[in-house]
Amino acid sequence: MIETHYLVIGSGIAGLTFSVKIAEKFPDRKVVIVTKASEDESNTKYAQGGVAVVLNKEKDSFKKHIKDTLIAGDGLCDEEVVKMVVEEGPDRLEELLIWGANFDVNATGEFDLGKEGGHSEYRVVHHKDITGYEIEHALLKRVHQLKNISILPHHFAIDLVTNHHIKEIKSDKISCFGAYIFNQKTGNIFTIKANATLLASGGIGCVYGHTTNPVIATGDGIAMAYRAKAAIKDMEFVQFHPTALYEAKGESSFLISEAVRGFGAYLRNKTGHRFMLDYDERAELASRDIVSQSIDNELKKSGDSHVYLDCTHLDMSAFKHHFPNIYNKCLEHHINIETDWIPVVPASHYLCGGIVVDKNGETTIANLFACGECTRTGLHGANRLASNSLLEALVYAHNIYKFHSAHHYKAANVIIPDWNDEGTTIAKEHILIQHNLKQLQALMRDYVGIVRSNKRLKRAINHLDLIYNEVEDLYKESKITTSLCELRNMINVAHLIIKQSLERTENKGGYFNIDNV
Ligand code: FAD
Ligand code: SIN
Repeated sequence: MIETHYLVIGSGIAGLTFSVKIAEKFPDRKVVIVTKASEDESNTKYAQGGVAVVLNKEKDSFKKHIKDTLIAGDGLCDEEVVKMVVEEGPDRLEELLIWGANFDVNATGEFDLGKEGGHSEYRVVHHKDITGYEIEHALLKRVHQLKNISILPHHFAIDLVTNHHIKEIKSDKISCFGAYIFNQKTGNIFTIKANATLLASGGIGCVYGHTTNPVIATGDGIAMAYRAKAAIKDMEFVQFHPTALYEAKGESSFLISEAVRGFGAYLRNKTGHRFMLDYDERAELASRDIVSQSIDNELKKSGDSHVYLDCTHLDMSAFKHHFPNIYNKCLEHHINIETDWIPVVPASHYLCGGIVVDKNGETTIANLFACGECTRTGLHGANRLASNSLLEALVYAHNIYKFHSAHHYKAANVIIPDWNDEGTTIAKEHILIQHNLKQLQALMRDYVGIVRSNKRLKRAINHLDLIYNEVEDLYKESKITTSLCELRNMINVAHLIIKQSLERTENKGGYFNIDNV
């Protein structure tokens, strides 16, 4: 068993920012970060567009950014949270600069601000089209300089330790005492006992087969919190990014940043028609929910598998300067952006809901905090404004840090039992996990996509029940593997998405059910 002041689950922007801040301030407090893949693998690493921050006060203002966020969220944002996050943006960006992250500047030395869907002004700070990679590596560099942080890559958090595991606790109030951790290299399972635990475990994209997210995005933190009985909300608001690169074979997930549309690219159907003008006066720069729903409608009308992003009219040398990664990735796929339209299709991208937290990142479970994409803060409402996610993670990591600066959590006087896997054996039929995963992803794609109906959702929940029972049986009899735990977590997350979709009777933002029209 390891004992620590802070257990942080996840090494994306949320987990690393909190860790750096608290470790810098309290050199005598120990932080342990567990992360299930290599230390930089995360959604953060793939962020392209950038961080939305109001910097150009002549043209832009907090008021405008707040208004854009509220419009995108379609009436369901918490206005106070929006104000707080937007107004803290410049200070949080300053800290990233201190930690060594670089952002592009223009000829006059000012930040080169980009624009994305739903933004009324240029306000997205970026590092080429690899902003997330730049931030992730700046944070990791700082983490390695701090002696009181240990980072454990290839360590998978299986479940939170709560009252449920500790017989002598009689209280009804659920508290968290750390987590059971699986060392993916050795196969050992051990306990990390923590005074406070932070879930910073990211998104859920992989619940849908076709996603912009890397394979780590399996909703583990949300599932763990749900099993521990934390409040989870707004799960129906899955955000589909309008422009993932379409590939005839496989389920490509490479993103063509919304910043490319901010740079002037057009969406066209196969006849060449610039169809977004038919749907919204902001055309390609309407908010993401509207663009994805419009593409979905075009595809249903035509029976086509994809639409196109046309960049051929743009200044190519400026394009290559801004988007070198996208340009080269397209070339690898034999698409020359100078002459060819890019085939694109919507893909699951971001979850607006998640673990309910207050402004201090406190969940409904004592000693358990959450930050980043796994949370529901109230910032995004029914649809997240582009580039508000990295900002949200920075602001909430700071708030949680401030909270812990004012409240010193002591070690709980409890004895945590070891992980018990008596009676389990090594699963012989690993292929069954793969089959169940494919079934799960197919049902989410077919029945719980951009446009839903009550009939499809009910069918989805029935099919999911079968998969759930099969996987629970397998889980009870098998030794832990990462893929089995991830599948179990994705089933929990899918259940929450479907159930909360069925509960929603009004279409808002990213949620569209034909029976609510
Ligand atoms: P992540 O960065 O996903 O980190 C989660 C961490 O938790 C990972 O290290 C993971 O390995 C670990 N983890 C998960 N489960 C476990 C477990 N069971 N045990 C141990 N470790 C675990 N947002 C913007 O604001 N601007 C953008 O330009 C932008 N572009 C994007 C482009 C792409 C392609 C994608 C996928 C997302 C983009 N987003 C963008 C969204 C944004 O990147 C994410 O919402 C944000 O990075 C999430 O940060 P996080 O720290 O919460 O989670
Ligand atoms: C993008 O670059 O299009 C992604 C931005 C985001 O998800 O906020």
